[in-house]
Amino acid sequence: MQGVVKRYGNAVALDYVDLAIYEGEIVGLLGPNGAGKTTLIQTMTGMVPIERGTIKLFGQSNNPFTHANKEKLGLVTQEITVYDELTAKENLQFFAGVYGLKGSERKERVQEALAFVGLAEYADKVPTKFSGGMKRRLNIACALTHRPKLLIMDEPTVGIDPQSRNHILESVKKLQEQGTTILYTTHYMEEVQEIASRVVIMDQGQMIKGGTVDQLIQSIQHEERIHIDVADTSLLPVEQLQSIAGVMHVDVAGTRVTVISTAGSGNVDRILSLVKEYTGVLGIQTENPDLEDVFLTLTGKQLRDGGGEA
Ligand SMILES: Nc1ncnc2c1ncn2[C@@H]1O[C@H](COP(=O)(O)OP(=O)(O)OP(=O)(O)O)[C@@H](O)[C@H]1O
Ligand SMILES: [Mg+2]
Repeated sequence: MQGVVKRYGNAVALDYVDLAIYEGEIVGLLGPNGAGKTTLIQTMTGMVPIERGTIKLFGQSNNPFTHANKEKLGLVTQEITVYDELTAKENLQFFAGVYGLKGSERKERVQEALAFVGLAEYADKVPTKFSGGMKRRLNIACALTHRPKLLIMDEPTVGIDPQSRNHILESVKKLQEQGTTILYTTHYMEEVQEIASRVVIMDQGQMIKGGTVDQLIQSIQHEERIHIDVADTSLLPVEQLQSIAGVMHVDVAGTRVTVISTAGSGNVDRILSLVKEYTGVLGIQTENPDLEDVFLTLTGKQLRDGGGEA
């Protein structure tokens, strides 16, 4: 995608977005609520038209959304899009049929996809009887029967149990080993750190930064994270902390204030003395940055679920 712009009324959902995905990669797309991740996916699959820019799919830029190209795509939507009236197997048969699979091949692929997501035993059950995790896995299977070259997953692990989550992450890695290219959208840093070959960070319709997890962390290596447990967080001088030179972010949660600051600048002392003037300090801990900090530094926002302005 190059220079892609998409507006809804006056709101800019995609603001001159550039993104390249290379064969064999798992690209982790990170962004808070409303960043434009789903819109990005909808434009790259031809579901919504763009106003400016170009999209090239499998090397084809002139008319990228041909039938042949769409057949090479698999899309796992953010909202679960399976039919409640159909059994797991019938759902897969339907989606396989849409992709043109017929007869014994369709039958085999349906079995294969069900087994792949660990639902073989539930083939004849309807999804209304499934747990959230099982529904998610069925939703994923629906995108796999036609063996797509590029699999696009829009937050496939939201609201599910850890076991299903691990199963999904393992499956994604397995698909990559089998040659599938994957775009994986999520709010969860740990997932990206675990599976992505490359990460792109998006906020307010713009691509902010990209690279491997290591490269991104390296780019803020000169920062440190300071956790201070205090007696009363309501007394904290948050604004004064924020105005200390080198302080990039202050976050209060529970009994703890977390500050991201330039490392080795004497800021730990400065921050600690200031906090002590207002409330008792119960404990302090400093840490090297991780991907969550990269995100905070770049966007000023938390990435966790429902995270808006921090
Ligand atoms: N159909 C639509 N009509 C109007 N505005 C829309 C529509 N779809 C998306 N938007 C707006 O575009 C922006 C990007 O939304 P989008 O759903 O792409 O974000 P997202 O990164 O997928 O967020 P989330 O993490 O919550 O799924 C938001 O401001 C949203 O309100
Ligand atoms: Mg979305």
